[in-house]
Amino acid sequence: MSKFSTLLALLSVLPALSHAQSAVYAQCGGIGWTGDTTCVSGSVCTVLNDYYSQCLPSSATTGSTSTVASTSTVTPTSTTSVSTTTGSSTGTATSTSATSTSTAAAGNPFAGYEMYPSPLYSSEVAAAAAAMTDADLAAKAASVAQIPTFTWLDTVAKVPSLGDLLANATALQASSGQKQIVPIVVYDLPDRDCAAKASNGEFSIADGGEQDYYGYIDQIVAQIEKHPDVRVVAVIEPDSLANLVTNLSVEKCANAETTYKACVTYALNQLATVGVYMYMDAGHAGWLGWPANIQPAATLFAEMYQSANSSPFVRGLATNVANYNALQASSPDPITQGDPNYDELLYIEALGPMLSSAGFPAQFIVDQGRAGQQNLRQAWGDWCNIKGAGFGMRPTTDTPSSLIDAIVWVKPGGESDGTSNSSSPRFDSTCSLSDATQPAPEAGTWFQAYFETLVSQANPSL
Ligand code: GLC
Repeated sequence: MSKFSTLLALLSVLPALSHAQSAVYAQCGGIGWTGDTTCVSGSVCTVLNDYYSQCLPSSATTGSTSTVASTSTVTPTSTTSVSTTTGSSTGTATSTSATSTSTAAAGNPFAGYEMYPSPLYSSEVAAAAAAMTDADLAAKAASVAQIPTFTWLDTVAKVPSLGDLLANATALQASSGQKQIVPIVVYDLPDRDCAAKASNGEFSIADGGEQDYYGYIDQIVAQIEKHPDVRVVAVIEPDSLANLVTNLSVEKCANAETTYKACVTYALNQLATVGVYMYMDAGHAGWLGWPANIQPAATLFAEMYQSANSSPFVRGLATNVANYNALQASSPDPITQGDPNYDELLYIEALGPMLSSAGFPAQFIVDQGRAGQQNLRQAWGDWCNIKGAGFGMRPTTDTPSSLIDAIVWVKPGGESDGTSNSSSPRFDSTCSLSDATQPAPEAGTWFQAYFETLVSQANPSL
């Protein structure tokens, strides 16, 4: 990643200070915006899209290349070792944003980089392995700590830990000479998980959650800009946009639609300013892969890409996050009947061209962390702590499609999908179905019995 100048670092922190004062580069309007719509002297409130207006220096809005505008350029291409392994053949991609000229590395952002394993997850795994009495199982379990898994920033309180993560990755990069990419999940939308209950979050739209979310993103941006030497890749908001495709009949989702779009737009725009490579969550084959859903999905994802001024840092989409689908099923699971896209590869290869047609040349990453065993579910929509699941294919950039940048482990295997305790406020009945492992603890907390099964059922074996 590029070296940021002191001035650039100073400029990039401005959005973090922005909401109360409408400083240069602060938001000043857009659907759902309730803050100040005036800008400080020398800047003009400029509509970037329906969801986001920004105070831009007066000179930048007239198209001139002022010093301020040109120093806001983010150029993570200064490292040239990233090979172009995908269909995108252009050397650089340049955004048309009025705010900055962001130049992202061509090709696969994972290529040439080592994914930095989450120390938090590694410590969970180490403790879990130490608690096992079967020595063979414990040894296999312990090896999971070395497999890179995404770090979920699922509460604002976890954001400071991102600073430690990035500092550690920076130190490893410096000592080893091996470039590091730190994988995170941005997951704190207000009225989160609108069509289910198990992962309801801390912010509520009715209680200022949209502004809270902007503060959450600003804090992430502030951490990342302090550690410019390592690369960051992010999955953006699991389930959120997929819920807007299929679940607007759920009142909470319908109420959240405008806010979700504004918040995701904000996340994409702000994280692009510090060079984060982003993949918006795109559900999975059994959700948006159905014929009735796939084109509306493509339309929405392209709209969101365009709301980020077609930034090349919005690299594409993540599929199968926390789900159990095979990348390539040897034969269709009977529960997939009726969906021609019965595995993730089929889904991606159907969705990719639709996105391209809509103006979004998207690449993909696919979660295979818990997809080692197949044909486990009673219904394709079941998602909670599925019985018999095993760890799946290991993270790699060696993938079966030029559309797929990497196979990844996004869901930290061993963390629960949701509680089976029916008296919990976050109890979702999906977690008490017959194919759900029970008793199960709250979403995100450690589930030792489930982890043991993932280890013993791993395919390939550990
Ligand atoms: C679930 C939880 C979240 C956790 C994530 C990864 O979505 O709601 O808290 O971080 O899974 O385990």
